[in-house]
Amino acid sequence: MDSPTPGRTEAPGDRAAPDTGLPPVFVSRPLPAAVLSRLEKSAAVEVWNGDGPPSASELRERTRHVVGLLATSADRVDADLLDASPDLAVVSNNAVGYDNVDVAELTRRRIPLGNTPGVLTEATADLAFALVLATTRRLVEARDAILAGQWKTWDPAFMLGMELSGSTLGVVGLGRIGRAVARRAAAFGMNVIAWSRSPQPMDGVELVELDELLARSDVVSLHVSLVSETVHLIGAEQLALMKPTAVLVNTARGAVVDQAALSDALRAGSIGGAGLDVLEQEPIAPDDPLLAFTNCIVLPHIGSATVVTRTRMADLAVDNLLAGVAGERLPACVNPEVYEPPAI
Ligand code: NAP
Ligand code: GLV
Repeated sequence: MDSPTPGRTEAPGDRAAPDTGLPPVFVSRPLPAAVLSRLEKSAAVEVWNGDGPPSASELRERTRHVVGLLATSADRVDADLLDASPDLAVVSNNAVGYDNVDVAELTRRRIPLGNTPGVLTEATADLAFALVLATTRRLVEARDAILAGQWKTWDPAFMLGMELSGSTLGVVGLGRIGRAVARRAAAFGMNVIAWSRSPQPMDGVELVELDELLARSDVVSLHVSLVSETVHLIGAEQLALMKPTAVLVNTARGAVVDQAALSDALRAGSIGGAGLDVLEQEPIAPDDPLLAFTNCIVLPHIGSATVVTRTRMADLAVDNLLAGVAGERLPACVNPEVYEPPAI
């Protein structure tokens, strides 16, 4: 059984004023101050200010009497939580991905789910491309070499990497972020190929089957949502199709890649490297083998982490929350079928 998060502190905004008459909502991570004060004009807000996200039991406890929940991808929103929150009228996820939520359960209960599409596309695509550059040009290794005293002189054979211009980028999942990464790759002179479940043409991008993409790409960048069909979409078999020099970049969700198979491939040298912003287990365990490979860059899920983007996400998440609390249609709704008349 989980226990309350250690070190949780009470802080201004931590508790809803009991007598405001405003609808009670729970916010599971702090919001930018301006966004929080906008929310506080229309709702009695309790914000979780713990070091980490609330545990499942804390989340259940905090949502017991609220009408709105503003969650993050670290919160599991499932039938257990919903059973314990009979007044819940809206769940707003402060993320575009919503694999942390049992959408079918929400829809069955006619509770709308909000997310934050679009506002984080460019920042996340930037981070994906930062990983493309950092892995292919060995930036972390190069910095570590300086720290280890290995920079003796300008050496024609030192820290050689991959030339992006003329190389091939394979985009897996040509949605909003996948397309934004494809645009960046084209600007770097890369040939862009893509695989998508429902192929929609994009100028300058050749659509191919996944196996062909893996075999032809110098860099493979993952952008599919995490759903049951995409769990371990990239496993041992798929990694074996990649060139021994090719790099895998994942800014989608950790479980899209079989992480144990990826460690095996890096150990065997059957791929050239990896850049990962998302992991099967977050935070990654300090003894995870992935952290030991010099050709693997691991980041702490910071794809959307710019001041501007995080503020836009929080704004949209609050818009969704307030709309749901007011019984209005959410501006960004994952399950719009909740607005259709119930089937008789
Ligand atoms: P999006 O526009 O909805 O794109 C999602 C992509 O996933 C589409 O290509 C979609 O294909 C594909 N997909 C969905 N279900 C699939 C299935 N069953 N089989 C194969 N492909 C499937 O979403 P987005 O805004 O680009 O975001 C994509 C993902 O990036 C999010 O879901 C999230 O997990 C991740 N993300 C991570 C960060 C970060 O901080 N690292 C930040 C933002 C987002 P169709 O076009 O056929 O539906
Ligand atoms: C972040 O990972 C998101 O899905 O917005």
